[in-house]
Amino acid sequence: MASFDTIIIGAGPGGYVCAIRAAQLGLKVAVVEGRDTLGGTCLNVGCIPSKALLHATHSLHEVHENFEKMGLMGGAPTVDWGKMQAYKADVVSGNTKGIEFLFKKNKVTWLKGWATIPAAGKVQVGDEVHEAKNIVIATGSEPSALPGITIDETIVVSSTGALTLPSIPKTMVVIGAGVIGLEMGSVYARLGTAVTVVEYLDAITPGMDAEVAKSFQRILAKQGLKFVLGAAVQSVETKDGMAKVSYKLRKNDSDASLDAEVVLVATGRKPFTKGLGLEALGVEMLPRGQVKTDAHFATNVKGLYAIGDAIVGPMLAHKAEDEGMALAEIMAGKAGHVNYNVIPGVVYTAPEVASVGATEEQLKEQGRAYKVGKFPFMGNARAKAVFQAEGFVKLLADAATDRILGAHIIGPGAGDLIHEVCVAMEFGASAQDLALTCHAHPTYSEAVREAALACGDGAIHA
Ligand code: NAI
Repeated sequence: MASFDTIIIGAGPGGYVCAIRAAQLGLKVAVVEGRDTLGGTCLNVGCIPSKALLHATHSLHEVHENFEKMGLMGGAPTVDWGKMQAYKADVVSGNTKGIEFLFKKNKVTWLKGWATIPAAGKVQVGDEVHEAKNIVIATGSEPSALPGITIDETIVVSSTGALTLPSIPKTMVVIGAGVIGLEMGSVYARLGTAVTVVEYLDAITPGMDAEVAKSFQRILAKQGLKFVLGAAVQSVETKDGMAKVSYKLRKNDSDASLDAEVVLVATGRKPFTKGLGLEALGVEMLPRGQVKTDAHFATNVKGLYAIGDAIVGPMLAHKAEDEGMALAEIMAGKAGHVNYNVIPGVVYTAPEVASVGATEEQLKEQGRAYKVGKFPFMGNARAKAVFQAEGFVKLLADAATDRILGAHIIGPGAGDLIHEVCVAMEFGASAQDLALTCHAHPTYSEAVREAALACGDGAIHA
């Protein structure tokens, strides 16, 4: 038995960041992780491997679409799926080893195995029981399949199976037009798979600014993705290596079905807290399975905290990281804080889609007077030079004070561009503050400035 200031359960972005920060602040820290490698879902079977496949297939798309235009002749390369998978695995292992190194550097102990919490202040891993002043649940989430649909990870897959298919399928049905469905759907569409996305709602990416979502759907459709919207999937049957997806069209209750070699179920995720013993401990839970916490991440059990996907809020790695850092500060006797109003969201398709703050629909609902500054990438010289002039920047600012309330970007580098707006919002900046900031020419970021100018006297290049 060992004793620690803090034991963190789960080494995903929430847990490992919390551990490193807590150790930096002088606490004696251990992390329990049952996987063979650190980094959690995000690094092992989520954000990072998907980015490798998105990059590889986007490069292929560039060869097909744009190389000849630039005088780069020689034809399209063939795809060696095994090599692409090996590249993806290398990216993952480089990063998981990096976290192992950071643990050693910061003297964070890795307790290998799966944890249970037999009593307040105690964590059991295998036969060993360890003691800690504070325990942090950072156990993340797992795919939440539809009732009656069995994920076998070969024909009917979750995002995990979709990352390691044995071969590139000819046909794929994606259930759910959320972030996972669209990112993985576009990977396979670029590899030549006929991809159909079946979505319950009448629009893709629920919660996204509607104007951006509409433009996003149009761009994805141009890339070959097919959409069936307003369709509630009822069942998936598998037979002779094929799947049949049956759905009901909500507008007229009619039944239809689609056959595919692979079905990706991307209908959301749910908190993963199984096996921790939370019920026996009397930990209060929320109706949707999250651990109930107060504003300082504390549960109703003394010394027991929770962060990331296991609690309320967007299921995003960077939200978990920020909570991990804030909680480490709190456990070290400092003031930790997360500003939930400024958490960016990014979809890593091509083009990328990124947003922060309020959508136009939310502002309307709040009855708030706002103004919109929009600028198309078509007016951005850099974007045009690299065939990426689709999309636009949309900035929302308070009608009276000009304070930035939200930003929504679809276009090249959107996932990076959004952060200048995040910083501006953290400083309570106005659209004019952005507009008066010199932006280097020629960069994509000029489109953000132009959108800010459009909130005032007008953009220059539109
Ligand atoms: P999601 O919640 O983003 O989207 C699920 C979609 O499935 C919704 O549009 C929903 O209407 C639809 N759906 C539900 N039931 C259906 C049915 N019976 N028939 C048809 N459609 C149905 O969930 P997703 O994409 O699985 O992602 C899970 C979580 O992981 C999300 O919280 C997401 O934010 C996060 N994530 C974030 C990424 C990023 O930030 N780039 C990447 C991957 C995941």
